[in-house]
Amino acid sequence: MPVDVVATKPTMQAIVNRKYGSPDDLRLQEIDKPALGDDGVLVRVRAASINPYDWHFMRGLPYVARPMLGLRKPKKSIPGADVAGQVEAIGKNVTQFRPGDEVFGAGWGGSLAEYVCGGENDFAPKPASLSFEHAAALPMAGCTALQTLRDRGQLQSGQSVLINGAAGGVGTFAVQIAKALGGDVTGVCSTPNVDLISSLGSDQVVDYTREDFTRSGRRYDLVLDLVANRSLSDLRRALTPEGTLVLSGGGGGRLLGPVTLILKARVRSRFVSQRLLSFFAQLRRDDLVVLTELIEAGKVTPVIDRTYPLSEAPEAIRYLETGHTRGKIVITV
Ligand SMILES: NC(=O)c1ccc[n+]([C@@H]2O[C@H](COP(=O)([O-])OP(=O)(O)OC[C@H]3O[C@@H](n4cnc5c(N)ncnc54)[C@H](OP(=O)(O)O)[C@@H]3O)[C@@H](O)[C@H]2O)c1
Repeated sequence: MPVDVVATKPTMQAIVNRKYGSPDDLRLQEIDKPALGDDGVLVRVRAASINPYDWHFMRGLPYVARPMLGLRKPKKSIPGADVAGQVEAIGKNVTQFRPGDEVFGAGWGGSLAEYVCGGENDFAPKPASLSFEHAAALPMAGCTALQTLRDRGQLQSGQSVLINGAAGGVGTFAVQIAKALGGDVTGVCSTPNVDLISSLGSDQVVDYTREDFTRSGRRYDLVLDLVANRSLSDLRRALTPEGTLVLSGGGGGRLLGPVTLILKARVRSRFVSQRLLSFFAQLRRDDLVVLTELIEAGKVTPVIDRTYPLSEAPEAIRYLETGHTRGKIVITV
């Protein structure tokens, strides 16, 4: 007797975000495994890390970013971009990886899942000395720190740099990378994080609960603002006359987010000798390799605050949203 064979699609567990809302709206579900195209690399996710980017997609905020995030619901139904894992399969045009390779990078399809697919330029070989958890902490925050300091801020050896928000995901990398670039580094954080920021190599640490860096009288060649809690005139007061301010693009209200501060900086920079810049990071394979070199040279070590299993990713995002995490939050898969 003939037997009916029902073809079943391969599936995977993933955190799914079908509508704008809170961590309560995120669900762990069984969904289709991503399909592999000719140019694709399918990665078995071993660890992911989360960034403010993920809660912007979850909440659909600020509203001004909705064309990018998705007008009525998130364009991206699986949160997460940062990933470390093992190559499971490659498309026929892929030359740089083989199944079994350990990689890290950008899983734009959503890394809070058992599998994610990307192009070969989205990934680089995982630093051999790092666990999957530590490698997953690197991509977005590490590239942001590197590009803001080296490219946008053009930090030169011997220059002074202040990092506002030194204890966060980007800040903990920025302190270490600024030291590696030869900067004289001042990190700004709250009292419980002072020792951590010193241990990362910061030459000076400002405890913002005791001292206002914009009123200390000290001037910096470069100010990297990762908090957006100060006015433009406050931030400019901490700059030398020819100094550079780089705004990371966070903060602001629900409607416009950082747009007001960025626009003010653009307008003001036409009339002053200081450079007042904003910045949008790109996860480039070349910079993943630079980060790997810094790791292997012992100049940078990812700082992990907490690790959560995939099923508790909503709790992890809830914690990240407090704005007071230390270093990175990692999800193991
Ligand atoms: N433009 C881009 O391409 C790009 C890329 C990545 C990130 N970003 C943005 O960069 C910002 C930082 O990202 P992140 O991943 O580092 O965020 P994060 O990990 O959530 O930052 C949390 C940190 O902010 C610190 N903080 C909070 N209030 C502070 C204050 N008043 N003064 C100084 N530090 C304070 C906290 O330290 P304490 O607990 O000591 O207060 C905490 O360690 C976010 O706004 C993010 O959206 C932009």
